[in-house]
Amino acid sequence: MPSSKSPTRPAKSPAKGTVRAGASAGKPKSPSKSPSKTASKANPGAPTKASKPSVVGQTRPTPAKMRVVAICNQKGGCGKTTTVINVAAGLAAMGQRVLVVDLDSQCNATTGLGVPLDGIDKSTFDLLMEPKADVLENVILETAYPNLHVAPGSIELSEFESRAASEIGRENKLKKAVGLLQGHYDFVLIDTPPSLGLLSVNALNAATEVEIALQSQPFAFDGLNLLLETINLVKEELNPNLEVTGVVVTMFDNRTKISREIVERAQAMKELEGKLFKTVIRQNIKITEASKMRKPVMDYDELCTGTRDYLDLCEEICAQHAAMKAAPAKKTNARETTHG
Ligand SMILES: Nc1ncnc2c1ncn2[C@@H]1O[C@H](COP(=O)(O)OP(=O)(O)OP(=O)(O)O)[C@@H](O)[C@H]1O
Ligand SMILES: [Mg+2]
Repeated sequence: MPSSKSPTRPAKSPAKGTVRAGASAGKPKSPSKSPSKTASKANPGAPTKASKPSVVGQTRPTPAKMRVVAICNQKGGCGKTTTVINVAAGLAAMGQRVLVVDLDSQCNATTGLGVPLDGIDKSTFDLLMEPKADVLENVILETAYPNLHVAPGSIELSEFESRAASEIGRENKLKKAVGLLQGHYDFVLIDTPPSLGLLSVNALNAATEVEIALQSQPFAFDGLNLLLETINLVKEELNPNLEVTGVVVTMFDNRTKISREIVERAQAMKELEGKLFKTVIRQNIKITEASKMRKPVMDYDELCTGTRDYLDLCEEICAQHAAMKAAPAKKTNARETTHG
């Protein structure tokens, strides 16, 4: 089982096909072509239409417990999508079977994984409207990265709130769909929009855990209490097992006082006690460049600090995984935070 192995860093970027040996056990079908080989004429460098894996209905002899992680913060531009893309790519390169669910009508997680929007027939919007196995089968796409699939977003997601307003069980749509995936993935990572509306509530209801992206910039704490209240409300009313399992500090710059203050303040907050990941994601221009190239940073520059930080974060997340498997009843918060 891929999830039972301690993670090691991939020697090379995932696009070069260098996932660790052992990653193949029970893994979904890998794409046959690398992004460069599938570059379209209209948009050189970008892959052509993503192909469909056969996921739903596959049987696995010993289904592992699937971690469903919603990456949240209603504050815009704080690094949620960047974290989803790079954690997904890092975990997949470490041999974990990963599905990214894009719940944001901006679709940045979809395009950021190199999946062009013009090749998409069905999106997470269709899945939310009709959370059934045959729809799910048509929504999930392979990416150019082994072990990494995506349920793409679409602009129609912006209409979900109004379209689902009168529907009974509208908060349960994603939970129903994700339930059909049990045993097929080690991780489902949900990218959420910058709001606390019905899409985010669906994400929190479907999730087994929440990770909060906290940008180390002024106003980082604005709205954090509202986010924590929303998480508690979803826990009380809909999803009693939901836990905040980590806070990822993003765009950290050790040279600035504000960055250091944000981390200190987060560490001192009672509600976030023990939740901060040891790894902070430093500000790194290569991350921005990679997102413009629609690639995970580790596929853009395997030696940059952005790659290093996200792989360190993936190792922490996998260590939580091992702890959860060893002691399922024990709470497995992120480790105490230290910074260099
Ligand atoms: N560590 C980093 N270093 C440099 N740039 C970064 C870093 N993390 C994210 N960025 C850049 O910051 C911008 C916002 O990041 P991102 O899109 O991940 O935020 P978001 O929270 O998903 O935004 P939204 O709420 O609009 O969905 C992007 O251009 C991204 O490339
Ligand atoms: Mg985003």
